[in-house]
Amino acid sequence: MAKTVRIHEFGGLDKLKIEDVDPGQPGPGEVLLRQEAAGVHFADTLVREGKYFLKPDLPSGLGLEAAGIVEAVGPDVGDFSPGDRAAYRFNLGAYTEARLIPAAQLHRLPDNVDAKTAVAATVRGMTAQYLVRQIYKVGPEDTVLVHAAAGGMGTLLTQWCKHLGATVIGTVGSPAKAEIAAANGCDHVIDYLAEDFAVRVEDISGGAGIPVAYDGVGAAVYEGTVACLEPCGWYVNYGHSSGFLPPIDAMELNKKSLIFTKASLKDYMRTPDRAKSMLDEVFDLLGSGVLDPGISREYSLDEVAEAQRAIASRDTTGAIVLVP
Ligand SMILES: NC(=O)c1ccc[n+]([C@@H]2O[C@H](COP(=O)([O-])OP(=O)(O)OC[C@H]3O[C@@H](n4cnc5c(N)ncnc54)[C@H](OP(=O)(O)O)[C@@H]3O)[C@@H](O)[C@H]2O)c1
Repeated sequence: MAKTVRIHEFGGLDKLKIEDVDPGQPGPGEVLLRQEAAGVHFADTLVREGKYFLKPDLPSGLGLEAAGIVEAVGPDVGDFSPGDRAAYRFNLGAYTEARLIPAAQLHRLPDNVDAKTAVAATVRGMTAQYLVRQIYKVGPEDTVLVHAAAGGMGTLLTQWCKHLGATVIGTVGSPAKAEIAAANGCDHVIDYLAEDFAVRVEDISGGAGIPVAYDGVGAAVYEGTVACLEPCGWYVNYGHSSGFLPPIDAMELNKKSLIFTKASLKDYMRTPDRAKSMLDEVFDLLGSGVLDPGISREYSLDEVAEAQRAIASRDTTGAIVLVP
C-alpha cells in the first residue's frame, strides 16, 4: 500500500486526507514509480480549493510533479527498467509514496540532479524558461521586474535573468525575504508591503520605466506594474497568488502600447520536442549551478496541510518539497 494524499471535496486544509492506496501493478505502457520527492506548488492549493483550471473529478489525488525510482515496468515499456531514476510533471496525484504512471510521461533525471531538486525546479524551471527565453528574450540591456523574488518562481527567474546579464529589480513581502532576493542576485530589492514599488521602479529607471515585468502575484500588483512599464513594455503575468487580475482594459494598455500576456506552461510545452528542449536547458543550468531552487524546507506526507498552509500564507522562501 502507498500512503497518499487525496481530497473528497474541494475546500480548505481540512479536506486533505491521508489514505492508504494500493497503487496496483503496471499495465501496458505503465511504470510503478517509488517516489522520493514531490513538488509543492502554490497551484496545488488552488487545485484543493477547486479554483485551478485543472478541476479534477473527486475523489482525487493532489500534487503535479514527483521524482523517484522505477520499481516495476509493465508490458511494452522499452525506455525504463527497474532502478532507473525518473520524474514527471503535470500528472495529478503526485503527493504519494508510490503510483502508476505512463512511461511516456516520465523523463530521466541526469546524475547530477537529485529528486528534491528535480521536483522543486522542473515545472518552475520550465516556466522560467518560457518566460525569459521565449515570451520576452531577456538580455544584458534589460532591466527586469520580478515580483515575489524570494519565492519558488521568483528565485529561478532572478537567477536566470542575472545569468542572461540583465539588471533585476525584485519585490518581496518582508525584510527577511529581501535578504534572500538579494542573495538570489537581485540588484535592487523592494519590500512592496512597506513601500510603493512603482515609485521605486520609476526612480531606479530614471523615470523611463522598464521593458518587462514578470508577475506571478496578480491582483495586488497589477496597477503598479502597469505604471512601471516603459512604452511598448511587456506585462508578463503567469500567476495570481494574491488574487485574480481585474479584467484587462485594452484602452489602458493602449496608453503606452503595452503588451500583456497571461501565460501557462502547458501551452509552451505542448509538443514533446518543445518540452524536451526546455527541460534540457533547465537541467543544464541546474547542473552547472546557475539555477538553484533554494529548497528551504522538507515536509513528510503527514505534514501536507502545514506545507500547503505555508505556501499559501507567504511563509515560505525558495521551494518546499514533500518527502514521502
Ligand atoms: N503559468 C505557469 O506556467 C506557472 C507555472 C508555475 C507556477 N506558476 C505561478 O507562479 C506563482 C508562484 O508559484 P510558486 O509555487 O513558486 O509560489 P511562491 O512564489 O513560492 O509563493 C507565492 C508567493 O506569492 C507572494 N504573494 C503575494 N501576495 C500574496 C498573497 N496575498 N497570498 C499569498 N502569496 C502572496 C508571496 O511572496 P511575497 O511575500 O514575497 O510577496 C508568496 O511567497 C504562482 O502564482 C503560481 O500559480 C505559474
